[in-house]
Amino acid sequence: MQIPITGKISWTGVNDRRKTLFENIWPLPHGVTYNAYIIDDEKTALIDTVDTTAAADFLGRIDAQLQGRPLQYLVINHMEPDHSGMIEALVKRYPDLRIVGNKRTFKILESYFGVTQNLLEVTDGSRLDLGRHQLQFLLTPWVHWPETMMTYDATEQLLFSGDAFGSFGAFSGGLFDDEVLVERYESETRRYFSNIVGQYAGMVQKALAKLKGVPIRTICPAHGLVWRSNPSRIVDQYDRWSRYEPQPGVVVAFASMYGNAEQMADYIARRIAEHGVRDIQVFDVSATHLSFLLSEIWKYRGVLLGSCTYNNLLHPLMEQLCAKLTHITPKNKVAGAFGTFSWNGGAVKHLRQTFEALNWPLVAEPVEIHGRPSPEKLSACDALAEACAKAIM
Ligand code: FEO
Repeated sequence: MQIPITGKISWTGVNDRRKTLFENIWPLPHGVTYNAYIIDDEKTALIDTVDTTAAADFLGRIDAQLQGRPLQYLVINHMEPDHSGMIEALVKRYPDLRIVGNKRTFKILESYFGVTQNLLEVTDGSRLDLGRHQLQFLLTPWVHWPETMMTYDATEQLLFSGDAFGSFGAFSGGLFDDEVLVERYESETRRYFSNIVGQYAGMVQKALAKLKGVPIRTICPAHGLVWRSNPSRIVDQYDRWSRYEPQPGVVVAFASMYGNAEQMADYIARRIAEHGVRDIQVFDVSATHLSFLLSEIWKYRGVLLGSCTYNNLLHPLMEQLCAKLTHITPKNKVAGAFGTFSWNGGAVKHLRQTFEALNWPLVAEPVEIHGRPSPEKLSACDALAEACAKAIM
């Protein structure tokens, strides 16, 4: 499908509803798009390509759009294979194709495809004249890989932003923000941000600073919706998330083998609710994929983690969550820890170490219960719940 965007620019990407795991890690319950854009100007250009796994009619659509004219430029905003997958095929089909990228792009390009010819190297601020459309390249490293850049069309005040401002989720009819209920896309957008780009939040802030003062009417990301009516909405969201601005709620995530840590989680969540917190989400890490846990934790100010002790350590799935949190390092949180043990403690000690590594202050002393959590034992959680509620209200 070709969808006109504005001027001589069309969307020529794909909806991928077959892939179940993005990067073979992150679930795709609603699919994903790989957005490529063609500019059919005096000189022809393609902005990014698509994943080979969903490229069935990609080349045919480019041919149909160009009607016998050759594709002259391929702009590579990002080399991750979900966007670079069709480069080899394009180079074969259009032997005179010039590939536009920066020094880092070309290192990865050679390592992937052995392509070293017909390169047009750009630096920050370089321009390319296509006729009506005037492109400018903005280097935005680490949003999401080191070579990442954005391409700005000064003629239409349109930004091809790469992974930035992207989202999980295939589009269902509506491609533009004014054609859909944008609220429906928010959780998938935040999940994409926290899973893929959030680790580089500081670099997202640098990219946003670079875009300050650049007039932008339309944002064309490499995944998800095209923002033509209210691009400031997605920019503001990315700004808030990359500044770690939390919402006043609590995530309680637990790992439990036989239900004891789960009882603690439910007890604590109930007490927090009694103290007036309305936005509380409780998750069993064994039933909720890491991807969604990271997204919810990114969202909220309060994070309470609980685990049974498993061979003197954390439950393996809680260990996985803690490890990933220390990689992506969300900030501006308050934390609490709870756990259970049967013969020897340990889980809570490891949770405390995780929070120390993350620099998340504890709202209260952790609670660790030996054996079944009787009502008397559970009352030891009251102070933790009260302190958590106070800290976020
Ligand atoms: Fe959508 Fe980092 O690739």
